[in-house]
Amino acid sequence: MTTQKQTLGEFIIENQSSFRYSSGELSRLINSIRLAAKVVNHEVNKAGLVDILGTAGDTNIQGEDQQKLDVYANEKFIQTLTKRNIVCGIASEEEDSFITINSQDENNQNKYVVLIDPLDGSSNIDVNVSVGTIFSIYRRITPVGTPVQLEDFLQKGSEQVAAGYVVYGTSTMLVYTTGYGVNGFTLNPAIGSFYLSHPNMKFPEDGNIYSVNEGNYLDFPLGIKKYIKYCQEEAGERPYTSRYIGSLVSDFHRNMIKGGIYMYPKGSRNPNGKLRLLYECNPMAFIAEQANGKSSDGYTRTMDVEPTELHQRVSFVCGSKNMVEKVEEFMREFGE
Ligand code: AHG
Ligand code: MN
Ligand code: MN
Repeated sequence: MTTQKQTLGEFIIENQSSFRYSSGELSRLINSIRLAAKVVNHEVNKAGLVDILGTAGDTNIQGEDQQKLDVYANEKFIQTLTKRNIVCGIASEEEDSFITINSQDENNQNKYVVLIDPLDGSSNIDVNVSVGTIFSIYRRITPVGTPVQLEDFLQKGSEQVAAGYVVYGTSTMLVYTTGYGVNGFTLNPAIGSFYLSHPNMKFPEDGNIYSVNEGNYLDFPLGIKKYIKYCQEEAGERPYTSRYIGSLVSDFHRNMIKGGIYMYPKGSRNPNGKLRLLYECNPMAFIAEQANGKSSDGYTRTMDVEPTELHQRVSFVCGSKNMVEKVEEFMREFGE
């Protein structure tokens, strides 16, 4: 006999009372992300069919070409999040500065800010490889009813109230946490509903997968080089394997299920690292910690890093607890 799986909608309603702030607004916010994810999923799935591939012509704040789907996903998430009276500000990888919502309306009680990487792994779009969306949610710290300020976005990761990602892969999944563990929902495309398929996700304490762009090897800090050599040389005792998709969301997702570590350290080419603290690293770090994993820059816990700017980059080491601790040991011993 098959048991009826819970839908994401049902799960959100049932778990609303366990949210740290149980006013129902955060539930509605997650709901709107669910909706935008479905719309973006539909478009991502069509990418090979319609003339949506290629570069939209703009260059984003990081100096990278924007793919059309980046622009599309950015618009859809912003539209969906703006419509309901929940969010007072949005920061996105695709926007130079943050967006203020309803600042003119004195009655506006919107409490939440959302930081988002609307389409992660965009270089993989035109080769039919998994991409994703990453989001991070905070309560504003400035008074409600006033225009949102930069400080509302520059909060430490440890202040997040929710974070999650969508992976548009062989199946589309939405994985998120509100600080009470991590749950994964798989989209049934025939019905258009997400079903709870991965309850209470946990990183295995140890793993044998390391994910890093080894093309940058010569550029890496000595501690990271030594760790990679350790993974390769320990093969007799504990066979490690290398897997790197180049979409953080997908690499992270695989590592969480199978046990592994993702690394994007700084180096001379990326003096502060490549990944963005506020809408890539912090949300992933929150999910990792909620799933018994760990995340740091090699020394300091990711969620303890004090943000100074919206598009800040950091070194990122995230995954199975024992593996991240091993990297930290190597960083302490060998450093840069
Ligand atoms: P984005 O597509 O949002 O710019 O992010 C790309 C990120 C991340 O998803 C991925 O893990 C990493 O960049 C890959 O970088 P390299 O190509 O330098 O390995
Ligand atoms: Mn990204
Ligand atoms: Mn992106």
